[in-house]
Amino acid sequence: MEVVILPGIRQIAALAADAVESLLRRKPDAVLGLATGSSPLPVYDELARRHERGGLDFSRAYGFTLDEYVGLEPGHPESYSEVIRRDFTSRVNFDPQNVRGPDGNAEDIPAACRAYEDAIRARGGVDLQLLGLGTDGHIGFNEPGSSLASRTRIKSLIEQTRRDNARFFRSLDEVPHHVVTQGLGTILDSRHAVLVATGAQKAQAVHDLVEGPVAAICPASVLQLHPHASILVDEAAASSLKLADYYRHTHDHKPAWQGL
Ligand code: F6R
Repeated sequence: MEVVILPGIRQIAALAADAVESLLRRKPDAVLGLATGSSPLPVYDELARRHERGGLDFSRAYGFTLDEYVGLEPGHPESYSEVIRRDFTSRVNFDPQNVRGPDGNAEDIPAACRAYEDAIRARGGVDLQLLGLGTDGHIGFNEPGSSLASRTRIKSLIEQTRRDNARFFRSLDEVPHHVVTQGLGTILDSRHAVLVATGAQKAQAVHDLVEGPVAAICPASVLQLHPHASILVDEAAASSLKLADYYRHTHDHKPAWQGL
């Protein structure tokens, strides 16, 4: 696991976009794991800018979103399939056929979750998984207590997460209680996990993820078991890290060829 502490979200977005860009140049039909929420937005803005100005090409890429609310009608502006289309894939030349998310309206949710896992596997797995971090340590919608080996499945949201996400809805009552999410085991299978977290409200979760024990109480701590995880944080989100100076030193002295 590499922890990179940067002055702000602009530098974080540029570094995450560099990783996506170098992957796409190496492998134009790469599989991207796409997160929603506020944290990855500046990364998507930067990728859209590179597409517009530098011709960064997504035409052969594939996208799998992390999670979806259960029970929002198709086309609901806050369903994650709409959010990812609006915030990212429609702003670059992603083929809409190549973007898929878990089905939160399936009649048979367990079967739809299995089909989603099969679809990811059939594409050869996720090359780069972008992640945000919940204030309670969730990644995807794997809330505290999630099995570290879990696969795509239905989950209940913790009230804190519903309150955190109420800003996207007209009221808290509209925030669904259930979601379908890639599991922690699914996320662990990605070849490179890039997590973005900013702001003091994420400091405790960042500490628990990086320096706490690997434990279901902080689901993101499972990334300590990931063979290639990059944790990109600003100073506020890094403020509870004990080894912050060591992470800074390591990043500052990293050989230039190494990339993220
Ligand atoms: C959304 C997702 C969630 C968010 C997390 C942080 O697809 O996977 O884990 O990344 O809730 O959300 P923000 O970035 O809005 O603080």
